[in-house]
Amino acid sequence: MKVAFLGLGAIGAPMASHLTTDPFTLTVWNRTREKAVAFAGEHKVVAAESAPEAVTDADFVITCLPSSREVSQLLSEIEESIPSGAMLIDCTSGDPATSRDIAARLEKRDVAFIDAPVSGGVKGAVAGTLTVMCGGKKQNVQRAIPVLQTFGKKIVRCGDVGAGDAVKAMNQALLAIHIWSAGEALAALAKLGVESSVALDVINGSSGRSNSSENLFPERVLGRKYPRTFKLALLDKDVGIAKQIVDGENLESPFIELASRLFSEAHGELGDEADHVEAVRVIEKRAEVRIS
Ligand SMILES: NC(=O)c1ccc[n+]([C@@H]2O[C@H](COP(=O)([O-])OP(=O)(O)OC[C@H]3O[C@@H](n4cnc5c(N)ncnc54)[C@H](OP(=O)(O)O)[C@@H]3O)[C@@H](O)[C@H]2O)c1
Repeated sequence: MKVAFLGLGAIGAPMASHLTTDPFTLTVWNRTREKAVAFAGEHKVVAAESAPEAVTDADFVITCLPSSREVSQLLSEIEESIPSGAMLIDCTSGDPATSRDIAARLEKRDVAFIDAPVSGGVKGAVAGTLTVMCGGKKQNVQRAIPVLQTFGKKIVRCGDVGAGDAVKAMNQALLAIHIWSAGEALAALAKLGVESSVALDVINGSSGRSNSSENLFPERVLGRKYPRTFKLALLDKDVGIAKQIVDGENLESPFIELASRLFSEAHGELGDEADHVEAVRVIEKRAEVRIS
């Protein structure tokens, strides 16, 4: 099975590393070519000179780029080179409307498409235990399973094209709400003189706990270590997609709207390279208190 993997970023590279052995023949491409060359050297696979060259004889093309915008732009370069009968699996956390446009574009050339964003972070990608949320025709999702199983543990078809993106966007909205609300709670408790480690210990044994309070806060906020495995800029983009979805449905969704505004502000304040959990630094600054 010939696979072309386009986009060796923080999560794309460890995902691609599971496709380097039999029965897969992997070709990689990355915008910054040095990363593709380093990956190819480490894993003994081919780094294509160009994106069209990478996809030219692929059975499966996988994209893992920041957003659907970059996928759509790259598609304009590679569309003519993807063999008819092949499939594009887009693992980008994308937006449903653009994914539907991409699927329609590709269908004209007899290329199948599924959106297949992932969750589980860089650790999950390295371990091959990601959750993969798929949108597409049943037979297309079924066909992609052998590829998705290399890096995914839980693989779920959520509905037609765009459904995977939609579920991912809502998951990210929940993540953003959990991070911000836990940050506010700990900032308030710190103001009252309660140590954040004590507060977190109690919350994590109580009903207010979340993945953020159990894993992200002890490691990143209390540890003052922000490893930048997942950029705040990307979470801002994701919550923006969730907001677009609720706006498109004319739904009153104050939590999602607020999360979108707050993460956009935090992104503006902390810049493009900040880690997603660093949003808590904005809460600390506004509350004039340190959570530690
Ligand atoms: N990191 C995570 O924990 C995580 C978890 C779940 C989902 N995701 C999602 O997975 C996707 C990738 O995230 P990431 O963390 O790997 O991002 P990243 O580290 O910023 O990597 C982005 C990748 O996209 C490439 N790229 C950027 N702009 C491009 C363009 N205009 N044309 C072609 N390639 C372009 C980059 O190439 P260069 O090397 O040249 O910059 C890089 O390979 C995003 O949709 C993100 O939301 C990430």
